[in-house]
Amino acid sequence: MQKGVMLYEGKAKRLFATDNGCQVIAEFKDDLTAFNAEKKGSEQGKGELNCRISSELFTLLQTHGVATHFLSCLDSTHMLCKKVSIIPIEVVTRNVATGSLTKRLGISEGRELPFALVEFYYKDDSLGDPLINDEHCKILDITQNQDELEFLKMQARKINTILKEFFLERNLRLIDFKLEFGKDENGEIILADEISPDSCRFWDKETNQKLDKDRFRQNLGDVSVAYQEVLRRVLSKQ
Ligand SMILES: Nc1ncnc2c1ncn2[C@@H]1O[C@H](COP(=O)(O)OP(=O)(O)OP(=O)(O)O)[C@@H](O)[C@H]1O
Ligand SMILES: [Mg+2]
Repeated sequence: MQKGVMLYEGKAKRLFATDNGCQVIAEFKDDLTAFNAEKKGSEQGKGELNCRISSELFTLLQTHGVATHFLSCLDSTHMLCKKVSIIPIEVVTRNVATGSLTKRLGISEGRELPFALVEFYYKDDSLGDPLINDEHCKILDITQNQDELEFLKMQARKINTILKEFFLERNLRLIDFKLEFGKDENGEIILADEISPDSCRFWDKETNQKLDKDRFRQNLGDVSVAYQEVLRRVLSKQ
């Protein structure tokens, strides 16, 4: 599969056209950003680790009946995907309070939530990706269809159940994660983008050591060591 023209360059990936109009190639970059790109960095090998981790997790979800954009891994940093029209919502699922939730609700870091909390954030960097509700989605004309919003929440909960168990078996606590969905050429809503330590928070089950992008956000060091450890655990017991 040949890489065609670059369609989009984001902070963590580049998207390329292919000779099939329904497929794109995602190239995973070593760049890291946080706090709406105010903090920038790069970590050698990060793109490769995220590409491999994402490929494994998309495959896992597909075996559990979750439709995703993942088609195949082309090489260490390139993934062949179904092209979708991205729904401009970041679907965040939280099992444990941390990050912006602790500030917004005034609850303590590390508190186990009584149920998986699903939140929507509007994907708009110029607004700082604000928290939105179902009615905001309709005002923004993201969709007028309540069933689509319910489907996103249902998929997020289902994915959470699958991933939480998968990671717990590997001594990792899935604290929270961000998903993006899109519509394929048939109008079907499928999971897209990536699932990696850039988009998830993982804490070691025994020590609560952070093994995700918080190491970069909080200057904790050993970013790629942590991502490598997540990949090692993802690949273990298979
Ligand atoms: N299968 C797909 N088809 C089309 N676009 C996709 C697909 N998967 C992911 N995308 C989009 O491709 C881009 C990936 O790049 P990246 O993750 O680097 O973006 P970003 O810097 O996070 O910015 P943003 O998500 O705000 O555009 C995102 O815009 C994402 O929504
Ligand atoms: Mg992104």
